Amino acid sequence: MGAIQHDLFQTEPVLPAGISLMRGRIDLEDGRALLDDMLGVFAAAPPYRLRMKTGAYVINQMTNCGSLGWHSDERGYRYVDRHPETGTPWPPIPPRLKALAMQAAAACAAPFVPDACLVNLYAEEGKLNLHQDHDEKDFAWPIVSFSFGNDAIFALGGARRRDPVQPVTLRHGDVMVMHGESRMRFHGVKKIVPGTAPFDHPAIPAGGRLNLTFRRAA
Ligand code: SIN
Ligand code: FE2
Repeated sequence: MGAIQHDLFQTEPVLPAGISLMRGRIDLEDGRALLDDMLGVFAAAPPYRLRMKTGAYVINQMTNCGSLGWHSDERGYRYVDRHPETGTPWPPIPPRLKALAMQAAAACAAPFVPDACLVNLYAEEGKLNLHQDHDEKDFAWPIVSFSFGNDAIFALGGARRRDPVQPVTLRHGDVMVMHGESRMRFHGVKKIVPGTAPFDHPAIPAGGRLNLTFRRAA
């Protein structure tokens, strides 16, 4: 008998109450079908670059589906009912994606019907600064996140910006729900890990990652 090879085991992070991580909840076949649906969303609502209040561009391209979509420009952060560049209402959330988001929330005893889905497109060098999702009307509703493509080192913080941050790897097919006492945690994306995606797909930026966050904004 050889020595126990501890390095063969990958340990999962211990997550706080209200953060539910369903590893690989979306299998490879379903993932492809859902990503195909996203190509329809991109045709109706082309990904674009948002600006912050300062006028600086956000690094990731973004778009939305649902009756409301999150937008930011010199006037600040808010939900709007149409694509600011095309003037066309956001396309509906593809039914299979919406159903899966509702199932995930219900599995966490936080049932909801999302009316907004923010699509974040991360290129290889993509990242997202630490922030709180606080533009929704009622924080009792959860946030549901789907990840596709390369792994992300997600930063999970606390209630205050200065609280310590825990790194959590989000992989292709992972579903995460932020609910209850963790709904308002600060969070962000530190970096994308190259070469970790199981396949390429035209909906995922080359060498990057696609994240969907489902919300109830109104
Ligand atoms: C977000 O907070 O809007 C996206 C998080 C992620 O990309 O995992
Ligand atoms: Fe967020």
